[in-house]
Amino acid sequence: MPAEPILESSREGATILVFEDPLSACAVAAERIAATIRDRASNRRKAVLGLATGSTPEPVYERLVAIHKQESLSFANVVTYNLDEYYPISPFDRNSYRLYMHQKLFDSVDLPAASAHVLDGTAPAGFVDEVAAAYDRWIEADGGIDLQLLGIGRNGHIGFNEPSDLTIERAIALPTRLVSLHPTTIVDAARSFGGEDKVIRGAITMGIKTILAARSIVILAFGAGKESAVRDAILGPISPALPASLLRTRTAETTWLVDRAAARSIVAELSR
Ligand code: GLP
Repeated sequence: MPAEPILESSREGATILVFEDPLSACAVAAERIAATIRDRASNRRKAVLGLATGSTPEPVYERLVAIHKQESLSFANVVTYNLDEYYPISPFDRNSYRLYMHQKLFDSVDLPAASAHVLDGTAPAGFVDEVAAAYDRWIEADGGIDLQLLGIGRNGHIGFNEPSDLTIERAIALPTRLVSLHPTTIVDAARSFGGEDKVIRGAITMGIKTILAARSIVILAFGAGKESAVRDAILGPISPALPASLLRTRTAETTWLVDRAAARSIVAELSR
């Protein structure tokens, strides 16, 4: 049984659950995903999942693999779409999100290879726009995303949708596309790339429009480094300058699963 939250709050249609530690939050995220898969299977439908990478969701995938093995959760009727990928990058590069997904989930469950979609970091430059547009068309053809798992950047990015000075209307209409990484994202990625100068500057990211269209969103944020992004996303103005705040333009279900450290500066306000 996943641990209980230490605080539960509702705000502008979103549910915010604060947990003592990241593992407890990740167990809840994994249970939500498993429930979505089971629920869709019981209706003879495939479950369409939007998946995130980064260090934050690693325990979610560990837990899902355990549920697959111990509780026979099948991924045979699951279709996945990953949020983003560096560009250009080989799928064998140790920083490739495709490699990450194979290591953390794809190779350990019965997900059909053709059902596991990751944006193509090897697409020739002249075809990237078509690769991105096709991704949105495929998601739509699959009936849209049932559950989108999200992390958050220290600058409030979701996927690689970086802070911008666009209007809200334009930002929430952004499709899947090629983008350039924000300076904060480059600093944060430097550790895994072995230096800032080695960080791949481009990425293809699922668009904000695509993300917001998911029927359910579960967003994870852990640690003091995410504290200000979490506070601004939940309590600050809705603004493309902090892309995660745009989740508040949704009417569909959004659940924040955060740990005590990431929630430190909002706990008092949320408890009111
Ligand atoms: C990366 C990814 C995001 C991820 C975020 C946080 O740049 N593009 O999808 O949510 O940054 O990463 P981490 O979970 O490692 O803090």
